[in-house]
Amino acid sequence: MNINELKTKQANKEKIAMLTCYDFSTAKIMNQTEVEMILVGDSAAMVMHGEASTIPMDTERMLDHVRSVVKGAPDKFIVADMPFLSFRQSIDCAMNTVKAFMQAGAHAIKLEAVDGHEALIKHIVQSGIPVMGHVGLTPQFINQFGGFKVQGKDQTSYDKIMADTLKLQQLGCFSVVLECVPAELAQKITLETDLITIGIGAGNAVDGQVLVVHDLLGYPSSFSPKFVRRYLHVEHLFKQAFNQYVQDVKQGQFPNDKESYL
Ligand code: KIV
Repeated sequence: MNINELKTKQANKEKIAMLTCYDFSTAKIMNQTEVEMILVGDSAAMVMHGEASTIPMDTERMLDHVRSVVKGAPDKFIVADMPFLSFRQSIDCAMNTVKAFMQAGAHAIKLEAVDGHEALIKHIVQSGIPVMGHVGLTPQFINQFGGFKVQGKDQTSYDKIMADTLKLQQLGCFSVVLECVPAELAQKITLETDLITIGIGAGNAVDGQVLVVHDLLGYPSSFSPKFVRRYLHVEHLFKQAFNQYVQDVKQGQFPNDKESYL
């Protein structure tokens, strides 16, 4: 999958399916599906490392996830998420992270910021790297938002999200994630920009959707937003398998002769 194929799908009004992924084994399975885009998201901080937010994520850990996913899913369009403050210190510093992600095999980078990052976004785009923006509920701004809350509900916030998205387009981004915004705003952005709009909690009138793979698979979570649809309940399946294993071990039924070197 490449950027032109994604643009063709957008032009043909064919919805694009994106999922997050962080590890080799899951990426290998995802590579054999119809999923078009993979986001190696900084949500890894929460679902892979048990952090309370994405703020503790750093470039080294992200790079490990990017490398693992690239190896597992060579056929997918892979977007690497710039972690908290990795693009805030200087353009040089940000470009080191971008370089590391791209050389690891990502096809694009995503960053959660607009104001104050215009020069950087332009610089990345002019370096030949597709950039995906992210507006609405940007989790790296959680301390300013005061929690994981829907954005764009009042007129000021609605107008700001619209203006930020137009700015991202003007800066040369190819796509934008719209997270937790009213469906009508997401639709307006989709109609009024050329960006490939990828929604999460942004309704259905967008070019594609993204979900955190752990949410889709039904891993346990202390917080389940209304936009999540669970397609599997791995928590239940894992517990069943783990308990069956314990029972087999305790009853001397594992391993059997076939599973032993006789
Ligand atoms: O890090 C992430 O998983 C994300 C998605 C929620 C869009 O940014």
